[in-house]
Amino acid sequence: MVSARPQYHYQQHMPFARQPLKTIYVIQRMATTLLLVPLWVLYYSFLPQSKRPRPSWSLKQIIAVNFTRRIYKVTELAGVTWNTRNPDEACDNRTLKETSFEWVDSLPEDLRTGIVADKQVPFKRVGAFVWPKESSEDADAADVPTIGVFLHGGGYSHMSAHENSPTSKIPRQLIKDKAMSKIYAVEYRLLQYAPFPAAVQDAAAVYTHIIRQHQCRSLTASTNSNSDSLIKHNEADLLTANRKSQTAQERRENEDVRQRVAHAAQRTQCKVILIGDSAGGNLVLALARWIRDEGVLPPPDGLLLLSPSCDPSHAFPETPSSYVPRPHASTDYLLDTPEPRALLQRTFLGHNPLETMHSPYVSPASARVLRAYYGDAFAASVQDLTIRQMDTLARERLRTMVSAPATPVPPTPTEIEACEGADGSPTSLACPVIASPRGLSLFSEFPQTCVVLGDAERLEREVMRLVGAMERDGVEVRTVWVEDGVHDVLMMGWWDERVRAKVWREVEEWVRTV
Ligand SMILES: *[C@@H]1O[C@H](CO)[C@@H](O)[C@H](O)[C@H]1NC(C)=O
Ligand SMILES: *[C@@H]1O[C@H](CO)[C@@H](O)[C@H](O)[C@H]1NC(C)=O
Repeated sequence: MVSARPQYHYQQHMPFARQPLKTIYVIQRMATTLLLVPLWVLYYSFLPQSKRPRPSWSLKQIIAVNFTRRIYKVTELAGVTWNTRNPDEACDNRTLKETSFEWVDSLPEDLRTGIVADKQVPFKRVGAFVWPKESSEDADAADVPTIGVFLHGGGYSHMSAHENSPTSKIPRQLIKDKAMSKIYAVEYRLLQYAPFPAAVQDAAAVYTHIIRQHQCRSLTASTNSNSDSLIKHNEADLLTANRKSQTAQERRENEDVRQRVAHAAQRTQCKVILIGDSAGGNLVLALARWIRDEGVLPPPDGLLLLSPSCDPSHAFPETPSSYVPRPHASTDYLLDTPEPRALLQRTFLGHNPLETMHSPYVSPASARVLRAYYGDAFAASVQDLTIRQMDTLARERLRTMVSAPATPVPPTPTEIEACEGADGSPTSLACPVIASPRGLSLFSEFPQTCVVLGDAERLEREVMRLVGAMERDGVEVRTVWVEDGVHDVLMMGWWDERVRAKVWREVEEWVRTV
């Protein structure tokens, strides 16, 4: 279960990450945690139900959370990684029961623009585990197939796209329930293998592969009318949200981009939904942003975000005293010690300047990005929004908060200079300002989105900021609330199956409306 890989670069300063301390520490931690289980069972059996971390939790749930939290400590202190695989290695189809392994070509040359272009990070072919193993082409021939792109979670350092990875519970369920006809689980490069934007490059390669594979069939009348309404809808957006901030030229350019994208979408004979849990959700947001900003590929039809990580910059407060811990420390299994998190994030950025941490491509729901796009008033109004409060009224209020500026504060002269010295593209990473290409707001033109979130999880605050900002920019967001739910509940080993079944029902109902 523990990946048999040598020590990674980012673990050099961690004493417990070196042998023999690492093995000793891991064994000690495992053994003591196992010994604690009977004590926890005893303790919580006698404790009144109302005194449990959440009164609705069963003994099994409490143990699952305490056990996972205690074991996770080894990932922080000893740099242990779980369930990873080398993305350069093929997987033998004969060893796979539910999926087949395919290589997808690296991102085509003509699409290597914007943040994915980075001289220090080579484009590579990408492995994908395709669900299900036997795809019944005939079954979906009559209909427009719904294809999923699954980006697994694990903090960009754990898990894999392999069917045995715990995160594969998510594509497995969607395929079992026939919510989607095919899902590509992407074996993107984790931070041990390459820094940002490698993961976005890999996800973009698989997205492009799917889009190009499904462009072969002829146009039909119905898709034509769809794309007309797409253009009209976007024009309306343009006239309301962004009128003040856009120049005539920007408007013309945006119109060109929209025509081009609508034309490409017209030729696509499938629906594509991007799916990501935890860090995979962060990657979904980056991929959707890249597709929007470059304006060449048709956009996905929906985003399914399961406890998405959307503010990694949290580990980098402006001053140590301004650090505000994430909520729900006593009910979630995620640890949140700032130093190991900062170290991990720094490795994720690699050669990129630290400033990249505050790019909307990396931390789209950070307080700093929200302030830059919407002003202080809006940022403050979503600061403490919780999922329990997210009713129709709150939604309406967010949607009408358009008084704040829709474009970010313009870059400073030094930032502009830094950009021009590089390749000049406003979205390139050489220019990590909080740029808004084409004068768009943070989430304008993002597809409809379904967000699953537990009210007992560490990420509640940042995810609610994300939802608030998306609603503000007119994105249709369905929020599915997991009552007393911890982080990424759909991939947890032990949870209340009735709760999980309810979440799946709501998610799949949303998928059908896309
Ligand atoms: C595995 O099977 C799939 C589908 O039959 C095929 O497309 C793919 O090339 C095979 N992969 C390898 C590595 O042989
Ligand atoms: C379970 O975890 C919580 C939160 O850290 C802690 O307060 C509690 O003491 C743990 N339970 C036991 C029995 O140790």
